Amino acid sequence: MHDETNANDWWRHGVVYQVYVRSFADGNGDGTGDIAGLRSKLGYLNDLGVDALWINPWYSSPLKDGGYDVADYRSIDERFGTLEEVEQFIAEAHELGIKVIADLVPNHTSDQHRWFQEALAAAPGDPARERYIFRPGKGINGSEPPTNWTAVFGGSAWERVPDGEWYLHIFDPSQPDLNWEHEDVRAEFDSIFRFWLDRGIDGFRIDVAHGLVKDLSFPDVAEQAVILESERSADHPFWDRDGVHEINRRWRSVLDEYDNRMMVAEAWVAADRLPLYLRPDEYHQSFNFDLLDTDWDAGLFAAVIERSVTAANAVGAASTWVLSNHDVMRHATRYGLPAGTKWRSWPMVGPHEVLDQEAGTRRARAAALITLSLPGSTYVYQGEELGLPEVWDLPEDVLDDPTWERSGHTEKGRDGCRVPIPWEINGPSFGFGSGAPWMPQPASFAALSAAAQAEDPASTLSLYRRATALRREHLAHVEAFELVDLGAGVLAYERGANMLVVANMSTEAISLPEGTVLISSDPSQGQLIQPDSSVWIAR
Ligand code: GLC
Repeated sequence: MHDETNANDWWRHGVVYQVYVRSFADGNGDGTGDIAGLRSKLGYLNDLGVDALWINPWYSSPLKDGGYDVADYRSIDERFGTLEEVEQFIAEAHELGIKVIADLVPNHTSDQHRWFQEALAAAPGDPARERYIFRPGKGINGSEPPTNWTAVFGGSAWERVPDGEWYLHIFDPSQPDLNWEHEDVRAEFDSIFRFWLDRGIDGFRIDVAHGLVKDLSFPDVAEQAVILESERSADHPFWDRDGVHEINRRWRSVLDEYDNRMMVAEAWVAADRLPLYLRPDEYHQSFNFDLLDTDWDAGLFAAVIERSVTAANAVGAASTWVLSNHDVMRHATRYGLPAGTKWRSWPMVGPHEVLDQEAGTRRARAAALITLSLPGSTYVYQGEELGLPEVWDLPEDVLDDPTWERSGHTEKGRDGCRVPIPWEINGPSFGFGSGAPWMPQPASFAALSAAAQAEDPASTLSLYRRATALRREHLAHVEAFELVDLGAGVLAYERGANMLVVANMSTEAISLPEGTVLISSDPSQGQLIQPDSSVWIAR
C-alpha cells in the first residue's frame, strides 16, 4: 500500500493543468500563444492552485497537427519562443512549487524531421528508410496501399512516395510513423528523455503510448481504425500491442536515473488493459478517459469511478480524472446535449436548438467538484476553469485540424476546444494578445473571460480556486474512497471519515446531509441540493 505521507509522489494527488500553448496567451502579439505569454500567467496559475502544468508540444514543428508533428525534439518552435525561455519558465514554475510536464511524441515525427527527409532522399531498401515503415504496395505496379488500415484523421494510413513505396502514418500523412523495432529509434528517444530531464522537466505526457508497435506481418483489418477502444478487436495491428510494454520499461529505467520524475500515458485502451501500463516498472500513471465518455448519470459515474479506483489500487497506482482536453468537445457543451447523444459524431454545423448550454454549464461546475474530490490526480484543461463551451460554429475557412481535410469535410475536428483563452473583457482578442488571435473567438467569450470572473464569488473561476484550496487542505494525501448510497440519481462518496461529497444528478432537489458545506457548485446553495449540483460536506 502506498505511503500516504510520501510527498515525493506529487503526481499521485496533484491538480495538473493542461496548457495548449498555442491558444493560452500570446506574449509577442503575433496572434499565437507562446512561452512569454505562459510565463506572464504563472501568477494566475499559482492562484488557481495547480500543482503541475502539462504543456502540449512546444517543439519545432510545421504545426500541421498543432505541434504533434515534431521536426526537432530538442528545439522550441520559433513561434513559441526559445529554449532559454523554456528553461526560465521551468525555473519560475519551480520557484512557485509547480511541476512541469512536457509532451513527448514518440509514435511519429513530422515529415520535416531530418530522419524522414533522409529517408525520402534515399532509395527503397536503403537503411535510412528503416527508421520509418516503408513498404511496397499491392496490386498492379504496387499502386494499392500495403494494407487497408485507415488513419485516425481519415483516409488510408499509407501515403505513396514518388519512387512507388508507401509509408505508414496512423495520423496525418505529415506524421510518418517511426519504426520502434529499430534500435536507432529507441536510442534516440532515450537521449531525448535525458535532454529534457537534464533541463529540469518533472515528467512526460507520452502521446499515443498505445500505438508504437505495429504488426509487421501487415494483416488487413476487418474493421476500420476507430478511436473508441471498446469498438476495437483484441488483436489490432497497431493499437495496444504487447510489445509496447518493453518500450515502457526502457523509458522507465531512464526516468529512474533521476529523482522524482514521472510519465503519464495517453493510452486509449480497454479498461482491463490499462493496468498493464501501470505496472511498477512502467508508467507512473495513465490518463483515464472513461469519465469523459460517460453520460451525465449517477449510476454510470459511480460504476466508472469505482472501477477506476479499484483498477489503479490493484497495481499500486493512483487514478487520474479527465473531463476535457485538446482532443475532445469541451464538457460544458457535452453535458448540454440531449442524453444519449454521441457527441463525437455530433454535427457541429447549423442551428442547434437541442443544445441546453445552461444545463451544460451547471453540470460542468458540478462535475468539477466531483473530479477535484476524487482520489488521484485531476487534469484540468485550460479554460475549463472559466466554464468555456465548445466553439462548435467556427466557420469552415478557419478550421485548422487535419481531421477537416482528411475526413473530406465531413468532420469539423477539434478546433472548437482550442480557441484562444479570453483573459480580458475587451480588446482585439480579449486579452489573449495585442492583436487578432490565430483562431477567432466568439463574442460570448467576453463575459467568460478571466477578468470578468476574477472578483465574482459565484463565477466558475472562483469555484475552481476555492475547490483547489479546499482540496489541499482536506484531501491532500487522503486516498480513502467509499461510495455511499443516497438514492437513485445521486452520486455520493466519503473521502475519509471527515468528508462527504454529494452530486445530485437527478431531476429533483434532495435534502442536504448533516455537516458543514465547504463548497457547492450552486451559488445559491440552501437546505436542498438542487439538480445538477455538487457539494462537499465536512463532518
Ligand atoms: C494524440 C494527441 C492529438 C494528436 C495525436 C497525434 O492523440 O493528443 O492531439 O493529434 O496524438 O499525435
